[in-house]
Amino acid sequence: MSTDLRLSQRIDERNDSFTAATKKRLLDQLPHLETESLEWLIMEHYQFSFANVGLLSLARDCTAKLANQGVTVELQRNIDEEDGHAPMYRQGMRNIGTDVDERVEFKPTTAFLAKVRELSAPNPSRALGTLYATETAAIFEHETFFELCREVAERRGFAYQGSLIKKFHDIHLDEGVEQGHKDGLAEFVDVDDTAAPGTGEKIDKADLEQGAYEAIEAMETWWNALLEKVLTPATKH
Ligand SMILES: [Fe+2]
Ligand SMILES: [Fe+2]
Repeated sequence: MSTDLRLSQRIDERNDSFTAATKKRLLDQLPHLETESLEWLIMEHYQFSFANVGLLSLARDCTAKLANQGVTVELQRNIDEEDGHAPMYRQGMRNIGTDVDERVEFKPTTAFLAKVRELSAPNPSRALGTLYATETAAIFEHETFFELCREVAERRGFAYQGSLIKKFHDIHLDEGVEQGHKDGLAEFVDVDDTAAPGTGEKIDKADLEQGAYEAIEAMETWWNALLEKVLTPATKH
């Protein structure tokens, strides 16, 4: 059955099962979690947002050796769109009482970012799979952190409606930024690259798929560490 699916759909299935379960695990417990814990999760997610352009740039540079130059063009488009997003995230959080720069290193986040960096180069097909998987999961991240940020803002007496932090999540969700990143890369995940012009490397579908699954595994490991830290024994399932 699964073999009839396009490669992007197979990757999506794996990703969806991780993101749906993680989102449910966290949002079910949202009212019971300390504001401090929510703030901490946001600070850790900010690290990924802050690292994003660097990771995309690694992938853009290494995919330049593909015969199909469209991947590099799409990653550059993504970089241009992401430019300025981390400062907006930081300011949006500052406006509702959190300074993300006060964050203390959490080793699993460091390890996660190192793993994504390792997957983003030098193998261009693996990088394409990795970025496809992380851009797909970015939709779930914004949906989840939209709710966390709302909870923090409301508990502190700030209006969420009209806030910069809500706008930050809205541009990624309602305005379609993350869906656009996912769809933009899906085209190359599913492309029949055998006839690509030029002398560069062909997209290797096995490497691509492997990269996507390794990235999903890294995201799962990271999220499990994050949830392990914030969910008390009574709220863990
Ligand atoms: Fe962004
Ligand atoms: Fe994105």
